[in-house]
Amino acid sequence: MGGEKETSRSRRDFLKTGWAALAAAAAGALRPRSVSAGPSASGEARSAFRTDPLERVRVGFVGVGGMGSVHVQNFLNIDRVEVRAVCDIVPEKVERVQKWVVEAGQPKPAGYSDGPWDFKRMCEREDLDLVFTATPWEWHVPVCVAAMKNGKHAATEVPAAITLEECWQLVETAESTGRHCLMMENCCYDRFELMTLNLVRRGRLGEVLHAECGYLHDLRDVKFSSQGEGLWRRQHSWKRNGNLYPTHGLGPVAQNMNINRGDAFDLLVSFSSPSRGLQEYARDRFGPDSPQAREKFALGDVNTSLIRTKLGKTIIVIHDTNLPRPYTRIHLVQGTKGVVRKWPHEVYIEGRSPRHEWEPFENYAPEFEHPLWNKLAVKGEGRGHGGMDFIEDYRLVECLLKGEPLDYDVYDAAAWSAVTALSERSVASAGKPQKFPDFTRGLWKTNPPLGIIGG
Ligand SMILES: NC(=O)c1ccc[n+]([C@@H]2O[C@H](COP(=O)([O-])OP(=O)(O)OC[C@H]3O[C@@H](n4cnc5c(N)ncnc54)[C@H](O)[C@@H]3O)[C@@H](O)[C@H]2O)c1
Repeated sequence: MGGEKETSRSRRDFLKTGWAALAAAAAGALRPRSVSAGPSASGEARSAFRTDPLERVRVGFVGVGGMGSVHVQNFLNIDRVEVRAVCDIVPEKVERVQKWVVEAGQPKPAGYSDGPWDFKRMCEREDLDLVFTATPWEWHVPVCVAAMKNGKHAATEVPAAITLEECWQLVETAESTGRHCLMMENCCYDRFELMTLNLVRRGRLGEVLHAECGYLHDLRDVKFSSQGEGLWRRQHSWKRNGNLYPTHGLGPVAQNMNINRGDAFDLLVSFSSPSRGLQEYARDRFGPDSPQAREKFALGDVNTSLIRTKLGKTIIVIHDTNLPRPYTRIHLVQGTKGVVRKWPHEVYIEGRSPRHEWEPFENYAPEFEHPLWNKLAVKGEGRGHGGMDFIEDYRLVECLLKGEPLDYDVYDAAAWSAVTALSERSVASAGKPQKFPDFTRGLWKTNPPLGIIGG
């Protein structure tokens, strides 16, 4: 982390002298078609970042393990998508995907499995529009940057980046190349989250002032597995202490709270509990003398971060992947006229719900089910995480084909992912408040809010 001080000093210098020039250049690169700040014909507000429509989406995948495979299968079931290339350090995984693509009636995609940097060769191909990475976290930025520098749009699994420098790298590369770079946050497309967006956009919760969210998922088996994420995810718990995986809870909440579109994250404070869960688990499962039981972990079992936005609104974000517990992302969104929470699925709207009583969300589904869910839930059934993964992939392809702004962009990827680095810094300094960089460089003030997406 010593290098970060240097980098932030030079960044400050650059802030003084370089942003005006860069912003002017970026405005040219990114916003030639972005003038429509008002609602579209479908009544939907526009965000700034859009590119020319595509006739088809030719995609190359990097990292086709657990989640990459889900995306490949989804893409093979979306019209006007061609899977042209596939890359993984494990040749058998590349071959497996090549077989799926051929079985789906498309030509065999080119395979790349010549070591961990072979994705660069793939990104140099001319016949790709989009490079999609579902690799371990530390590869997301190198792959996205290589893709954009070679003229491709870049999509990455979550989190997009680990450090603030990486967040800036994504923003700066997207701006200088004029390519999309997005973080695939599937939880924005889950049924209840979509319905929340619909309720918020239709004013039913009033002004949203506060939210609580998180990722509380017992991953002890996964972290100690001998395959998949077990090969890399546990290592992040050795040295890092903070909120390592904030975006599943935070993404949907940020959309509801107009982050980067009227408001922005401003400050964050963060504390972690002691670290016990992984040590105890390793001792119980592998024995007290096992190599696993001798591993030391820095990651506090429960990390609680509190964000204040520029407009003074508040968000609690919790991370807990080391303790025995049922799953939740909390998803509580509270406004001046009502509140929703997802675990359990409940709604309270003043003047409509019985006073002081939660109502089952089914009471609201007939009127407030999100149009995207109505349109796509059946197609997404059985395709990963209850259908939301299919909807997120479908929306990405749809926006690229139509040349419309994406539902989240590179500024969202950077701001949502920055929570990991800022929480680590706050925890390491006894909860000292950390300032969010303004990745939009002021555009958050004028960017219009997201509409009821995909309606
Ligand atoms: N959105 C979600 O719900 C969700 C769920 C699970 C995982 N994820 C995210 O997806 C990503 C991948 O997770 P996973 O569970 O699929 O892990 P995984 O370990 O199953 O898959 C990662 C794949 O990347 C390959 N790989 C590693 N380094 C590579 C490199 N340099 N070049 C090419 N291939 C490389 C591995 O061989 C493996 O096949 C992570 O960012 C994770 O956080 C998201």
